[in-house]
Amino acid sequence: MSNYHIKHLEEYYQVYRKSIREPENFWEEVAEEHFMWRKKWDNVLSWDFSKPEVKWFEGAQLNITENCIDRHLATRADKTAILFEPNDPKEPAEHITYKQLYERVNQFANVLKDQGIKKGDRVCIYLPMIPELAISVLACARIGAIHSVVFAGFSSTALSTRINDSDCKMVVTSDGSYRGSKTIDLKGIVDEALEDCDGIESVLVAKRINTDINMKAGRDQWLQPLLDKASTVCKVEIMNAEDPLFILYTSGSTGKPKGMVHSTGGYMVYTAYTFKNVFQYRENDVYWCTADIGWITGHSYIVYGPLANGATTLMFEGVPSYPDFGRFWEVVEKHKVNQFYTAPTAIRALAKQGMELVDKYDLSSLKVLGSVGEPINEEAWHWYNDNIGKKNSPIVDTWWQTETGGIMISPIPFVTPTKPTYATLPFIGIQPALMDEDGKELKGNQVDGRLCIKFPWPSMARTIWGNHQRYKDTYFSAYENKYFTGDGALRDEVGYYRITGRVDDVIIVSGHNLGTAPIEDAINEHPAVAESAIVGFPHDIKGNALYGYVILKDFGETRDQNNLRKEINQIITEHIGPIAKLDKIQFTSGLPKTRSGKIMRRILRKIACKDTSNLGDTSTLLNPEVVQDIMDNAL
Ligand code: PRX
Repeated sequence: MSNYHIKHLEEYYQVYRKSIREPENFWEEVAEEHFMWRKKWDNVLSWDFSKPEVKWFEGAQLNITENCIDRHLATRADKTAILFEPNDPKEPAEHITYKQLYERVNQFANVLKDQGIKKGDRVCIYLPMIPELAISVLACARIGAIHSVVFAGFSSTALSTRINDSDCKMVVTSDGSYRGSKTIDLKGIVDEALEDCDGIESVLVAKRINTDINMKAGRDQWLQPLLDKASTVCKVEIMNAEDPLFILYTSGSTGKPKGMVHSTGGYMVYTAYTFKNVFQYRENDVYWCTADIGWITGHSYIVYGPLANGATTLMFEGVPSYPDFGRFWEVVEKHKVNQFYTAPTAIRALAKQGMELVDKYDLSSLKVLGSVGEPINEEAWHWYNDNIGKKNSPIVDTWWQTETGGIMISPIPFVTPTKPTYATLPFIGIQPALMDEDGKELKGNQVDGRLCIKFPWPSMARTIWGNHQRYKDTYFSAYENKYFTGDGALRDEVGYYRITGRVDDVIIVSGHNLGTAPIEDAINEHPAVAESAIVGFPHDIKGNALYGYVILKDFGETRDQNNLRKEINQIITEHIGPIAKLDKIQFTSGLPKTRSGKIMRRILRKIACKDTSNLGDTSTLLNPEVVQDIMDNAL
């Protein structure tokens, strides 16, 4: 019998040891007992990190939507699968049962087929957090189309780059979206993006805000009339375990975004198993993850993981500040939420608001609190624990990545004693290693190094779409035979892990991964800019904010600097999205460079963080004099 649901610490250690000693037996038991396969695997695992090539459950056949929907119909047909809470609290919430989800996914899948979408085709989904988002994701999976969800806060340029990179044939979008008191013209953004996308044959448009929009004849169609005509039955496409399920883009420190490719079988098994344990989900609990489905957290822990367990998963369209900063707590009370999963940046923003907006609501339904996306600082941890959990609901600080597909290091609530700012212990099956800068593994406890993973786990990304070499170079080349995460971490005296932050040029702002290179490329498009460098600096709410050092082509020029700053942020918004805007922009005559011409970001980071007491050796720089000048004019 597999230990699908771990209930105490001894059991954790026992199961953990088994998962490490006999990973294949362990995962085989989990897969066999808790999922529906059309055909069993020939081989549980084959792997070679030097290529890298990883295959789980090879030879097995399944469809993930049978696991997330069909198999629940016998016992959970009338149970709420998706609980939709709209942006406007006055609009009624929508309870979509498993039976209704089945019918709606099938209708959508039939529409996709009618539009010529086939197994293996890529469909770009650019939707707000409305039920159609989850339904379109599942509809793709039902017919074997590969979904590529693009977060609806990305700009048209970011959207077209992603559409073209994976040669999508179709876009699913809406007339617009609500965001607090604002509306956003999503269809307009899509129209702009598609000027640069030749491969898109059709656009399906969901109605949400009921505005007049431009519909291009022969390309764009309203979704609802097509759904109304479609059958509520759609046979599943039988997929191989290793067939791609989806592509999801994440920023790299260099170059264009990386389309991480996730598999079907391994991804399903791992996200379902982690969901069950990390949230200790029990039948009839109401689970709420506040992420957007445009990020991996939403894929794994709003859609696939919860639904594979027959859970009720809440989808929230709005923002934490609308109509006021009590909205999250109002929703918790209204729907009696049991598990609540959010990001430190939201916790910090809400903690600033004072307690009246918390005390107004009954939060006694809460059992487990989660945190994800960035390190949670001590103050935010305590505020969350004391005021939201009332010291009764353990905080699961879950460390993982788009690339890992599922939670990798996390407490199991009521099982693992928590420790503020620590993600604590590796999840079942996960073998972390800390490495020093020379590539040696740091053994034992009380060590600090670069976080790697030594052994494959079922939900790891299999490649980068269209660029396997980049996958190898980014993740499997820094340390032999290990997956390198890009994060630093320390292991304390009892073996608990604390993630210390990125060690590469990715900066996490409000829980969003931002690569420095794409932002710098955007800035450099401004006609007055010669060169730029971006670094992060600590910010009360966002965790990190962005600091840009910009060299103008004509440094002495008289243009208004504040106008230039606005224009630079405008360009960034157009190329990437408002999340990548800079908080501070310093105009400078030069950037510190090594003799080989590399920008010394370490120095720029220290200046941005106002930590200039120890800048290290600057004498080897090509232009050491510039450092003093930058310090004198720092913002
Ligand atoms: O630096 C780590 C940070 O977020 C990065 C992954 O970002 P992304 O792929 O967007 O996925 C975010 C949601 C899973 C990691 O490399 N990170 C994520 N969770 C934590 C974290 N840092 C510290 N503590 C965490 N719990």
